[in-house]
Amino acid sequence: MRNIVILISGTGSNMAAIVKAAQRDAWREKLDARIAAVISNRADAKGLAFAAGLGIATVVLDHKLFDSREAFDTALAAQIDHYEEPGSPVLVVLAGFMRILTPGFVSRYAGRLLNIHPSLLPAFPGLHTHQRALDEGCKVAGLTVHQVTAELDHGAILAQAVVPVLPGDTADALAARVLTQEHLIYPRAISDLLQHS
Ligand code: GAR
Repeated sequence: MRNIVILISGTGSNMAAIVKAAQRDAWREKLDARIAAVISNRADAKGLAFAAGLGIATVVLDHKLFDSREAFDTALAAQIDHYEEPGSPVLVVLAGFMRILTPGFVSRYAGRLLNIHPSLLPAFPGLHTHQRALDEGCKVAGLTVHQVTAELDHGAILAQAVVPVLPGDTADALAARVLTQEHLIYPRAISDLLQHS
């Protein structure tokens, strides 16, 4: 059984979409994988209650209680590795996890650490992606699922979806349109990766 650990910081709507996909028969027939735990760096992350309500293990690891990024990432890795099965490395899925990870953490999970970013990378890495797309006059926006490397919002692209920018769009309206697609694409990208690894 392949264990998946999902890291969140807030609403966790992508996490919820992945959890729902993993409960469907089609996923269960195809993939020997389950969502083993949801870890948040914020105690007030809304997604925690959703996961706990489905009986998924939840962990809060408050980054503010650690002296350094390295100390937090070491503690985070220890929590993740708790779900390691012999011969079956945990897949680590960042879903709105708003922390920059240290190179040591990233290399520990190389090839099994995924992120979703709300832009068509390599355009608009970092924050405020939707406002920046609007400011540039982009006609399309979108999302990217990618392997995580030490460089922020880089790494091999696994999936992308394009979303139109509509006349009069605000950053919030565009974000909502992109998020709807995120919920479709992220579970699919995870399933594809699991099938081919
Ligand atoms: C999503 O739009 C995700 O792409 C973005 O945060 C949102 C989290 O929503 N991630 C990043 O910006 C990472 N750089 P969610 O908590 O409802 O899944």
